[in-house]
Amino acid sequence: MRIFSEAPADNASLRRSLYQGDVFALGPTTASEALVADVRELLERTLESRDIRHAPSALDPLELFARMGRLRKTLYMEPRFHAHARAVIAAAGFDPDHVAFDPLRLRIISHLGHENPRAAPVYYPHRDTWYAHPQSIVTWWIPLDDLREEETFVFYPEAFDRPVANDSEIFDYDAWVARGWSLKIGWQDPEAGRTARYPRALEPSKVDEGVGFSCRRAQNLLFAGAHYHQTRPQALGTTRYSLDFRVVDLRDEAAGLGAPNTDNRSRGSALADYTHPAHGGT
Ligand SMILES: [Fe+2]
Repeated sequence: MRIFSEAPADNASLRRSLYQGDVFALGPTTASEALVADVRELLERTLESRDIRHAPSALDPLELFARMGRLRKTLYMEPRFHAHARAVIAAAGFDPDHVAFDPLRLRIISHLGHENPRAAPVYYPHRDTWYAHPQSIVTWWIPLDDLREEETFVFYPEAFDRPVANDSEIFDYDAWVARGWSLKIGWQDPEAGRTARYPRALEPSKVDEGVGFSCRRAQNLLFAGAHYHQTRPQALGTTRYSLDFRVVDLRDEAAGLGAPNTDNRSRGSALADYTHPAHGGT
């Protein structure tokens, strides 16, 4: 696996390269910087502090969860953040008229968060496709700060095209969203990490053996959602924030293009609930 800092000029070539397992760490765009600035401002208001990387540790964990939950819901649902996502997608050369996207999620990786049983699923090694996403998904990841390698996540490139033992067959998209999108966005139930079943690997992995990366604020990291990856636990005394969303080029999906499926047995499809192009795509 290579991590490229430049995308091919032609978007179809970029998508093909992503489906083959290449990863692209592209520079910030005006659109991604505007998104990050807006989200940081929301975080400052939510945390009542300009020091968003330290402020969470001063709050009661359930209070923090409630505040962040409201913010997560805003990012996922509000039209202005859908517009931000569209702008970010277009700025990287994707055609918004043919791309459906699953809106923005905010990820919050706390200092010693891995010791909190409620947060356990955050650290499961996984493929995003195990959550009933199509094989053509591209995951888009944007950090809110410059981040060191120790506080991002790792890829296991050797697992891209070989099966990993997993229980993705437990994941049924329709059951997951049957009671609204609370589980999907992670905004309502602080116990979900303990009580809901998230698909997970059934074989060990060593985060130190993965391929990591450092990054700059508002960079656009793109990878196939079929990549096997894992968030790093961190004890650096600060909170790490990132945004992510998923995109599908509907022409590729219709043509059966995408990353290989080695082991994904999740049921149903998240694609119908993506935000689709106004004219229906394809
Ligand atoms: Fe993921």
